Amino acid sequence: MSKLTAPRGTFDILPEQASVRAGLERLARELLESAGYGRIETPSFEATELFARGVGEATDIVQKEMYSFDDGGGRSLTLRPEGTAPVCRAYVQYGMHKLPAPVRLYYISSFFRAERPQAGRYRQFWQLGIEALGSDDPALDAETIVLLATILGRLGVGGVRLRLSSLGSPATRSAYREELAAYLRANAERLAPVVRERIELNPLRAFDSDDPGTREVMAGAPRLLERLEAADAEHFACVRDLLGRAGVEYEIDPTLVRGLDYYTRTLFEFTSDALGAQSGVAGGGRYDGLVEQLGGPPTPGIGWAAGIERIMLASGEHPLAAAPVDLYVAFEAARADAFETLTAAREAGLAAQMELAGRSLKGQLRQAERLGARFFALVEGESVLLRDLRDGTEETVERGALLDRLVAA
Ligand code: HAM
Repeated sequence: MSKLTAPRGTFDILPEQASVRAGLERLARELLESAGYGRIETPSFEATELFARGVGEATDIVQKEMYSFDDGGGRSLTLRPEGTAPVCRAYVQYGMHKLPAPVRLYYISSFFRAERPQAGRYRQFWQLGIEALGSDDPALDAETIVLLATILGRLGVGGVRLRLSSLGSPATRSAYREELAAYLRANAERLAPVVRERIELNPLRAFDSDDPGTREVMAGAPRLLERLEAADAEHFACVRDLLGRAGVEYEIDPTLVRGLDYYTRTLFEFTSDALGAQSGVAGGGRYDGLVEQLGGPPTPGIGWAAGIERIMLASGEHPLAAAPVDLYVAFEAARADAFETLTAAREAGLAAQMELAGRSLKGQLRQAERLGARFFALVEGESVLLRDLRDGTEETVERGALLDRLVAA
């Protein structure tokens, strides 16, 4: 029979990686919860319409990267490609606007995008993300960015760069889109065909192009940052000032483009030199119109998401030491007595393991050492030969007295 493997662009999380992830998640959870963020987890699939409306019809994600399917009842569902639209959907659904603002939420979830797989780019991947809703205070923008910088720093993500920009209000943005589209049309013959085709659909993506002709045209293109209204420019100046006070370094990048349509005002991306072509570790921004677009009351919001696999790649995965083993229970004939000892030890809170692979006595001792066990107990009926594997000392104890002896140690 042929061997089956996991689908292309997916991966299995095996115990060793699971322990690295657990460490990463623990650190993020502690930091975020102490900053007032509460965990939210939404379903793995949603109505397709949520992403069409939330993420934007014109985005690559909605146009070609969604795993959508009919649920058998004529409804189109989609495996979530991102978390912001679902969290905003939940915010509206549960009337969270009635909670004291800002409502601070975080998630550690898997997402699905039908992208071309390569190093650091998968079809199912995990994100650590936060969303803070109900306040447009620039200090909230700064808070979220500082938290992200802290988390990436503590996790040892190397060569990090923060690029920062502002998109202004939707009105500024759509006026700017028109201006940019007109500029692109006027220079259409120098643009790459794919960029030319997308002038009307998404002119901003032209800043993303690697094509030399397009890059030349874009160097002279009008910049959104120069078109911001006074209130938006002031908001952005305040965010920059606060980041400076927190000691977070950043570069202003007026060409920063992100592949989601909901962004307004502050926009940012963290990249890492330690990654290859897929250098984006984390990205986010403000989305002051999204909740309303999903049927809720006008509600400002800001958030980010960091790719967990990319964090692990960029921090050079340091597998944590395996959990310590207190006791290894060995036996030759007394399987039932050994099993009783095992369950009693676990009941008493010890990390205990028992021989289950039919090893010889010598093999059992070797296995105990391999696991880094502190004690090796050879159970022979009512008597136990106990060896302290740290110093090699041995003693014989009554089986009934074994746990007291171990707990005392
Ligand atoms: P995003 O930039 O699409 O933003 O994704 C955030 C991060 O997820 C990326 O920086 C990257 O680390 C990781 N990522 C994305 N796609 C893949 C993939 N195919 N394979 C591996 N990792 C990937 C968002 O998703 C927004 N929802 C972020 C946000 C939250 N904005 C506001 N709030």
